[in-house]
Amino acid sequence: MAQTWTPTSWRNKPIQQVPDFPDAAALEATEAQLASFPPLVFAGEARRLKKALAQVSEGHGFLLQGGDCAESFAEHGADTIRDFFRAFLQMAVVLTFGAQQPVVKVGRIAGQFAKPRSSNIERQGDIELPSYRGDIINGIEFTPEARIANPERQLMAYRQSAATLNLLRAFAMGGYANLENVHQWMLGFVKDSPQAERYRKLADRISETMDFMKAIGITSDNNSSLRETDFFTSHEALLLGYEQALTRVDSTSGDWYATSGHMIWIGDRTRQADHAHVEYCRGIKNPIGLKCGPSLTADGLLELIDLLNPTNEAGRLTLICRFGHDKVADHLPRLIRAVEREGKKVVWSCDPMHGNTITLNSYKTRPFERILNEVESFFQIHRSEGTHPGGIHIEMTGKDVTECTGGARALSGADLADRYHTHCDPRLNADQALELAFLLAERMKGGRDEKRLVVNG
Ligand code: PEP
Ligand code: CO
Repeated sequence: MAQTWTPTSWRNKPIQQVPDFPDAAALEATEAQLASFPPLVFAGEARRLKKALAQVSEGHGFLLQGGDCAESFAEHGADTIRDFFRAFLQMAVVLTFGAQQPVVKVGRIAGQFAKPRSSNIERQGDIELPSYRGDIINGIEFTPEARIANPERQLMAYRQSAATLNLLRAFAMGGYANLENVHQWMLGFVKDSPQAERYRKLADRISETMDFMKAIGITSDNNSSLRETDFFTSHEALLLGYEQALTRVDSTSGDWYATSGHMIWIGDRTRQADHAHVEYCRGIKNPIGLKCGPSLTADGLLELIDLLNPTNEAGRLTLICRFGHDKVADHLPRLIRAVEREGKKVVWSCDPMHGNTITLNSYKTRPFERILNEVESFFQIHRSEGTHPGGIHIEMTGKDVTECTGGARALSGADLADRYHTHCDPRLNADQALELAFLLAERMKGGRDEKRLVVNG
């Protein structure tokens, strides 16, 4: 029988990945201050996202989740947010067309600041310093001062999240997300791509559909769904003191919600069933993500599902699988079979980034082919298991960075030095992200045509 949950009950559990804050009193004062601030999101929105994800778990819809590996204080300009949103919306339109299903749009944004690290220490030459843990905790500069965990950074992260969310809401509802705009941006991308011919067929079909709608009088002037879009935020719930401070009772339902973002997830390094991160997440009612890596056993997964979603509520739990292109076939089928056998309702999502990181010319990078490969295997495995490949989870930016190799512009190892800006893991740039969407849409469409042939033939 699970023990009573409170927003603080995680404090009695073992915990991984906690920063060492030298000034405990300052930390406490910051957390008290955060607890007095307004929530960033409202419980009704988290419920709406959960409803959309419930549809996905039942095979109707596709989850697109993406954004920075780590947001940074230095890159908080409107352009960064706008460029991300623009690339992300284009992906969503292409995937909607490929899947012929609604795409649920969830950014890794407006709160994605804390990072788990594989080592507590970073060494450069003879010098060792505490690792960088994300701008919400310490600074990325390799100096002893920057690497001290400073609680005041949480206030900055809160305010940056609020400002980012404000602009995203304005973009989503204020006309910027108009389908006509997104369509024009997408045509611009196709025209300039070295793979233009390959993408044109799909782009032309989207154009024809738009023309048809216009001809019968469906326009953004008379139809709000062509003018506005639902966009949700998410981040890894790693820094639990911050999360606790923003955990609030929803006055409508009387339930506890994390109000730091619409959806939060548990990382692959902090998903121990009897530890603090699982304890915190089990008590809040938001949609939850769970990263599933190669070390997760089928029984371990079922135990976590029972803890995090004891009532088997559809839309509550998204399993974000991040095995690696060469490991997904070894691990995914056993997890799918266990979940199916027990009748658990989940959204299956594929994170093709975190299992495919390599080092090239001293840069952490990810080859585009491997990313595509892992998603393709994920789709194929679900097809053969008879389950729904419900989404993708990617690290991307709207900027023209050089962090992942490959793609239509064939970025090489030598190009990485040009514009390698990430604060943590390598991200797909805007072109690579959109290419991924086109390639997936082609395959989704292909899969549907195949199914139809089987049914009709
Ligand atoms: C991440 O999503 O940035 C991350 C650290 O992932 P994981 O927990 O899967 O390693
Ligand atoms: Co990452």
